[in-house]
Amino acid sequence: MSLSRALKLSTALLCFSGAVAFPSASAPPESAQKGVLIVVSPVSNDTGIKMVPDNAHPFQAPGPNDQRGPCPGLNTLANHGYLPRNGIASFEQIITAVREGFNMEHDLAGALAGFAMLARGNAFLDLVSIGGVSPLIPVLPGAIDGPKPPGGIATHGRFEGDVSMTRQDAAIGDNVHFQDSLYDELLLYVGKFGDNSPVTGNSSIVTTKVMQEFKFARFVEDQIKNPVLQYHAGRNSLSYGEAAFVLNFFANGTDGTLSTPVMGSFFRNQTFPDDWYRRSSPGNITLIGQGVDEIRNAHPVPPGANAPNGTYVLDAPINSCSDVYFNLAVENLPASYSKATGVFKQNVDTLLAAVAKAFGCPVIFPTGLSGV
Ligand code: HEM
Ligand SMILES: *[C@@H]1O[C@H](CO)[C@@H](O)[C@H](O)[C@H]1NC(C)=O
Ligand SMILES: *[C@@H]1O[C@H](CO)[C@@H](O)[C@H](O)[C@H]1NC(C)=O
Ligand SMILES: *[C@@H]1O[C@H](CO)[C@@H](O)[C@H](O)[C@H]1NC(C)=O
Ligand SMILES: *[C@@H]1O[C@H](CO)[C@@H](O)[C@H](O)[C@H]1NC(C)=O
Ligand SMILES: *[C@@H]1O[C@H](CO)[C@@H](O)[C@H](O)[C@H]1NC(C)=O
Ligand SMILES: *[C@@H]1O[C@H](CO)[C@@H](O)[C@H](O)[C@H]1NC(C)=O
Repeated sequence: MSLSRALKLSTALLCFSGAVAFPSASAPPESAQKGVLIVVSPVSNDTGIKMVPDNAHPFQAPGPNDQRGPCPGLNTLANHGYLPRNGIASFEQIITAVREGFNMEHDLAGALAGFAMLARGNAFLDLVSIGGVSPLIPVLPGAIDGPKPPGGIATHGRFEGDVSMTRQDAAIGDNVHFQDSLYDELLLYVGKFGDNSPVTGNSSIVTTKVMQEFKFARFVEDQIKNPVLQYHAGRNSLSYGEAAFVLNFFANGTDGTLSTPVMGSFFRNQTFPDDWYRRSSPGNITLIGQGVDEIRNAHPVPPGANAPNGTYVLDAPINSCSDVYFNLAVENLPASYSKATGVFKQNVDTLLAAVAKAFGCPVIFPTGLSGV
């Protein structure tokens, strides 16, 4: 039971003593850069149903230097200019964009954007890549998260993880880009378990039942195929949460149903479908949490990871305000954030508070790894 946690810890200690080299010559001291103070925007009252996109946000395919990554929601928003089309965004821009495009509730958006910024962005400059490493995002001041520039949300670990729907596990294949073979598998489950529609045809409506069966099948596949599968409390719930995002944010807001052509537009083309409406009320963490429970409880898969002999070993329970919060924001973020000063420190504190708030938890300062 506790072995995988022990293993994780020994790897952690190893990385700490070996791989981390700071400060790095390529990282200018904080005083040489100008930080950008993060200010959490007030809750907007523009949270009703409306057609998306509006005329000011036409689809435009990304250029060769534009960042796109593992999140179909953020990719779509960038393709329509709700996020900067280069795929480099601030905390505030992400919160505004996910509300405009999908009616994601303010605090849920703040937790995701805050965690992304702390896990894989530059919290001093308030910039995160929705794809991979970008020349626009330099190493953190004092190289306190290691000598490399922040990896963007496409970088495996901390946020991007195993048992995704349409991306492979990093240890198996392409964990960043849309994979036709996995999407085809999802469509098989819609064909088997989906609802009928007079408009889009029989077995064309994506339902909770579809996600219950598909998500379990994806876990079973990856548990066998991925010798280093990691499905700890944070990633476990995020992965089910992403399935709940599909049902709750991709659905047509007029009637809340999600048809396969609409889902295909988001996943395949990363475009808003024609004549599509965002949901009619803000989608918050309570709603998504209910979705997670409903999907996971059909075939419960508790947090754990594969042991070297290929057995899925369950994690010891986490005794904290929320095991998901604790695993993500405390265990998965670098303890070296405690070295931040000035604007950088203010931003770190603001972002940590944004993550804790959505979970209704007090802030616990990160104790996790650096430089990985
Ligand atoms: C608010 C800021 C957001 C951040 C920082 C974010 C970040 C991410 C990241 C890092 C992943 C990759 C996780 C993985 O599968 O390994 C992901 C996946 C995903 N995101 Fe987002 N996301 C955000 C908002 C949204 C929104 C608004 C939607 C839907 C409208 C969305 C839908 C999804 C879906 C469906 C996946 C899973 C893709 C798959 O499994 O194939 N996300 N997101
Ligand atoms: C939202 O608030 C603004 C001012 O803060 C006001 O002008 C507008 O009418 C409000 N909109 C709605 C839908 O309540
Ligand atoms: C769809 O299902 C209904 C009810 O099961 C059936 O009557 C109808 O023939 C089916 N339509 C198509 C196009 O297969
Ligand atoms: C994706 O875009 C192509 C080209 O515009 C279009 O032919 C196709 O129908 C779209 N697919 C979906 C699922 O929207
Ligand atoms: C969304 O629902 C409305 C009302 O039922 C409908 O007119 C529209 O075509 C739907 N949009 C899509 C993309 O299915
Ligand atoms: C979350 O959204 C639901 C509706 O989906 C609403 O009933 C509830 O009050 C919201 N919770 C919070 C904490 O805002
Ligand atoms: C596989 O390894 C785990 C962790 O070391 C251990 O608990 C389990 O008993 C082993 N199972 C088999 C079948 O060897």
